[in-house]
Amino acid sequence: MSKKVLVLPGDYIGPEIMAEAVKVLEAVNEQFDLGIELTYGLLGGAAIDAQGVPLPDDTLAMAKEADAILLGAVGGPKWDKVERHLRPEKGLLAIRSELQLFGNLRPAILYPQLADASSLKPELVAGLDLLIVRELTGGIYFGEPRGIRTLENGEREGYNTYKYSESEIRRIGRLAFELARKRDKRVCSVDKSNVLEATVLWREVMEEVAKDYPDVELSHIYVDNAAMQLVMRPKQFDVMVTGNMFGDILSDAAAMLTGSIGMLPSASLDKDGRGMYEPCHGSAPDIAGEGKANPLATILSVAMMLRYTLDSAGAADRIEQAVSKVLDQGLRTPDIYSEGTTLVGTIEMGDAVLAALNA
Ligand code: IPM
Ligand code: MG
Repeated sequence: MSKKVLVLPGDYIGPEIMAEAVKVLEAVNEQFDLGIELTYGLLGGAAIDAQGVPLPDDTLAMAKEADAILLGAVGGPKWDKVERHLRPEKGLLAIRSELQLFGNLRPAILYPQLADASSLKPELVAGLDLLIVRELTGGIYFGEPRGIRTLENGEREGYNTYKYSESEIRRIGRLAFELARKRDKRVCSVDKSNVLEATVLWREVMEEVAKDYPDVELSHIYVDNAAMQLVMRPKQFDVMVTGNMFGDILSDAAAMLTGSIGMLPSASLDKDGRGMYEPCHGSAPDIAGEGKANPLATILSVAMMLRYTLDSAGAADRIEQAVSKVLDQGLRTPDIYSEGTTLVGTIEMGDAVLAALNA
């Protein structure tokens, strides 16, 4: 049976990194006879330019049809001036919400070959294997009421609402515990329950969920302390589960522990395991069009997609091994370059992964 993958290259470096990821996907599709069919769509700034909105109806319809979605990156200065509800980011938030992709998996794994690229001492990060599970369709990102209003005294006031229902907390909690079961069996829930009621409930529900997983250890940490611990002793964590905004912030910090955000894939899953896969990094307008972007995060997102949604763990392993092999060969895009290695561009890096796959 054929499986449909919707490809959304997005903006700035998005199309550059996607071209490499698609080469890799097409290669394993053939090697492993996966029967994957690719379709292409517009999201973000590219969609605004072509159709005036960041998430066009036909893209959403294709997304609903697809088994999995592969996304490059959206947004950038070109669309800074468009109205707030039409910004490229709105397209990303809308597709997450429309498809109910509530479970965002952001692994931070340090490739031993890249220990020197981390800004932390190698001994602090060597062997790092951390998974952040971020709630992606609720919390302050989506809470109503929200807006900017004018008060009676004429002053303007911006406001947002941080809220989580029990069922929202429970489903992300269960996902985190299920994932922990396949790892080191430790979940650390991140909240701000010393200040925010929404996260008092978060903590209570996590405790309830934990009762169904006696084999998994649950701990709690305040988000400020979590930020500190991440840069002080990151290897103490196995799975961290948290809300939308805290997860956004902590996952950028965690990514950098590994040397470059250009290495990290992510998955956003719905309740049935269908999902959207994208690199953790953004559209990098500063280097767009220069052939310098690191395509590995997107290539590794293809591997995650094969493993989590398309039931092809063998092909996923194969891609991850190929990535490891090119790092062994000393090939580095500028973001992970260090002395004594070989500097390559986006296309060369993609070609090297392809060659490793075919070897
Ligand atoms: C991310 C990004 C997005 C987010 C932006 C682009 C809306 O930072 O995926 O982490 O905040 O979720
Ligand atoms: Mg972010």
